[in-house]
Amino acid sequence: MSGEGDPAAWRSCTDMDTLKSCEEMSAWSSVHRAEGRTIGLVPTMGFLHAGHMSLMTLLRPRVDRLVVSIFVNPLQFGPEEDLENYPRDLERDAELCRAAGVDALFTPEMFYPDSFRTTVSVAGLTGRWCGASRPTHFDGVTTVVARLLAVTQCHQASFGEKDYQQLAVIRQMVSDLGMPVEILAGPLVRDEDGVALSSRNAYLDAQTRVRARTLHQALYAMRDAVLGGEGEVEALLALGHQTLDCDQLDYLAVVDAMTLEPLQEVSRPARALVAARYGATRLIDNVAVG
Ligand code: PAF
Repeated sequence: MSGEGDPAAWRSCTDMDTLKSCEEMSAWSSVHRAEGRTIGLVPTMGFLHAGHMSLMTLLRPRVDRLVVSIFVNPLQFGPEEDLENYPRDLERDAELCRAAGVDALFTPEMFYPDSFRTTVSVAGLTGRWCGASRPTHFDGVTTVVARLLAVTQCHQASFGEKDYQQLAVIRQMVSDLGMPVEILAGPLVRDEDGVALSSRNAYLDAQTRVRARTLHQALYAMRDAVLGGEGEVEALLALGHQTLDCDQLDYLAVVDAMTLEPLQEVSRPARALVAARYGATRLIDNVAVG
């Protein structure tokens, strides 16, 4: 593998290293670890937006070396999903990373070797919510994240609360497998109109975008009702349903903030979660309630 283990080969003409294979990434991390440096990872599928940038901002001051990975992971897409059309703009992403002070951009050309045979699967937490309509999704996420954590040898990794269930599943995996990495959660970032930032927002036309605002409006209405003293989840869901405008609702739920079990009553830290479809585009959102 050209450049493997040879720091001179990693450095591009700018001050950010670009690593295109797992071997190069691993060797880069080994060098920094041997010199006593800490490594932070922001895993992404690219088409970066302010949500991703906030994860970089969160990690940058906490670690000596910051790595961003960009890999559109086929394992987490179902057969009817948007793998082929998933938005990509590597050149722009690299510029954004450079400006954010990223030390290494990991863009593997081949992430899973031909001999790859492992699936990492977290039971229970993955069966509900997004897992119900995307049955193979979380196994794809945990498998890619486990390999990313291993290859980058990072000490810390950050994930956005926008994918709230994903964050819970990754925390469970890291804890169950005793992985020596600290998981940091970055708050969900919204656009000016309140829509949660997502690379998939690029699929929305202007009219659908207006309808997509009802996702957070529904969640905020539920949260405000809790603040106003309403604790019955049935009443909260009715309120949310009144506000929502989508083509197909996957779920609207109020769950325990840790276990993601559905609640009847908001009597402990809880999260309102929603997933809805607008044509072929599936959007998710969540807010803390209670
Ligand atoms: O949240 C994402 O962008 C992806 O699920 C992740 C964590 C990068 C794994 O592919």
